[in-house]
Amino acid sequence: MLKTHACGLLRLRDAGEHVVLAGWVHRRRDHGGIIFLDLRDREGIVQVVIDSAKAPEAHKVASEVRPEYVIQVSGKVEPRPQGFENPDLPTGDVEVHVEEVKILSASRTPPFQINEDIPVDEALRLRYRYLDLRRQRMQRNLGLRHRSIMHMREFLDKRGFWEIETPILIKSTPEGARDFVVPSRLHPGKFYALPQSPQQLKQLLMVAGYEKYFQIARCFRDEDLRADRQPEFTQLDLEMSFVEPEDVQSLIEELLTEQVEKMTGKAIWKKPFPRLTYDEAMAKYGSDKPDLRFGLEFVDFTKTLENSSFRVFSSTIASGGQVKGINVPGGAEFSRKKIDELTDFVKQYEAKGLVWIARQQGQNEDGTPKIRSSVSKHLSKEEVAAMFELADVKEGDLLLIVADQPKVVAASLGNLRLRLGRELGLMDDDVMALAWIVDFPLLEWSEEENRWKAMHHPFTSAVDEDWDKLETDPGSVRAKAYDAVCNGAEIAGGSIRIHRPDLQSRMFRALGISEEEARAQFGHLLEAFTYGVPPHGGIAVGIDRWVAMLASEKSIREVIAFPKTAQGVDLMVQAPSPITDEQLRELHLKVVD
Ligand code: AMO
Repeated sequence: MLKTHACGLLRLRDAGEHVVLAGWVHRRRDHGGIIFLDLRDREGIVQVVIDSAKAPEAHKVASEVRPEYVIQVSGKVEPRPQGFENPDLPTGDVEVHVEEVKILSASRTPPFQINEDIPVDEALRLRYRYLDLRRQRMQRNLGLRHRSIMHMREFLDKRGFWEIETPILIKSTPEGARDFVVPSRLHPGKFYALPQSPQQLKQLLMVAGYEKYFQIARCFRDEDLRADRQPEFTQLDLEMSFVEPEDVQSLIEELLTEQVEKMTGKAIWKKPFPRLTYDEAMAKYGSDKPDLRFGLEFVDFTKTLENSSFRVFSSTIASGGQVKGINVPGGAEFSRKKIDELTDFVKQYEAKGLVWIARQQGQNEDGTPKIRSSVSKHLSKEEVAAMFELADVKEGDLLLIVADQPKVVAASLGNLRLRLGRELGLMDDDVMALAWIVDFPLLEWSEEENRWKAMHHPFTSAVDEDWDKLETDPGSVRAKAYDAVCNGAEIAGGSIRIHRPDLQSRMFRALGISEEEARAQFGHLLEAFTYGVPPHGGIAVGIDRWVAMLASEKSIREVIAFPKTAQGVDLMVQAPSPITDEQLRELHLKVVD
């Protein structure tokens, strides 16, 4: 090799060694007769010293180098002179006294500074991703991602899982998003679809008798992007035969726990992971991926206020709505401006308004609590007292209330809760509040399509005792599905599958998929199910989201080497891009506006 040692790994024990190093010039300080270079490779940085009196040739070359030049140096590792050690650098006790410097390649001035961790416009970072990836933060993140994936492989191998690849050019595998499609040259007018996940293939591997499968699987979904979504992303995908939900859950629980404890200084909130039903999560947090690092749970006033003389409350309840609130400890100090901001905030989620009641210090003459409120004229003292009791409102607290249809209450109050959690500093990045959400509904009603849709995917089984209700009361059927959530994000999702062809057909029927359609789309699976299927189930962990969380990064782009922008564009290679007329012809395609 062109080097004998890694820059970042040199220590005092190497003093006296003659070494050859190669790497990038991180920083250069020219002190006339002496030049100091910080030389960087993947392992870190070491200081090299070039003294014109001792190595005039090397000094001449070193005076030409600039940041990001790739150079090779040879010299001797020496302890730094006393008082010149750098405790901030792992190599800070030593420096390399250089005899020879060779420029391996020059560099233009980079478009942003690589040697400092300063904010840089993300578009610029993505355009020059190979330079951005040189920065310490990105190296740390990708190193962590590597270790996380290696650990997953070892962990599962030890437990008898086989890693099996499945095709990327395949047929539509619905996970609720749009497919990316690839036109076939050999079969005019026909298309492959890129897998939204290897769902059907892993089930077929169970039919094939492989019992324990996993894959670090790339998935493709053409959906609206957000900070925690990419059009292509990576899952730890796995499937097991002869299992109950708890078997899959305890495996993943052990895996995630080991990762947090081995790879980060973070603490796991509760072990074993708490289990919340979907209904509980929605009722208390307005979300099926609640951030459990803090309280601010919803309090339900619906029953208490059914007969309220305040029409906004009573009529909302009469029309099937709810009245729910959050008690913000110490919130009575919020300014009117702040409350107005919060009111505008909940309106983004279609809430008509935000009712607020601040409990002040002291009491009224009649012994009732002193309040300041947007609705003090409308609510009786008894009502207020009952609400305070339910929500445990103490002096100095603020009650924020939304009255609306359940969906609006969940979205507006749920997001308000998250905003307050953030603003009040209740989200501790060093805590991983991992939990299981279970008992999801099997189906959800789609207003747009005017039909029931699978909440997880169409292969998920109903809870045994709920199959009876599939035709009569589809909305009440629970699924054998489970999600792992952490700090407000869905980290993993899975289920026990339907393994009986008759039940799978019933499920398709419930989804409004005709037998013909089912045969055309999923014939292979239905047919396979007639040849002896083990009961099976599995899960997929969103690796990008998980590693972002381990790395305390807000965006999954920070843990993906070459991510796309929120518009689905790769700014470095400029994809998507037009193709030639010749290519279009070959693919039997015509672009129309
Ligand atoms: P699901 O669709 O819940 O399940 O996906 C599993 C996990 O993948 C992550 N994820 C994403 N990450 C980044 N960008 C995206 N666009 C994106 N979409 C999903 C999430 C999610 O929890 N086949 C089933 C698994 C199974 O049933 O075994 C599936 O794909 O962290």
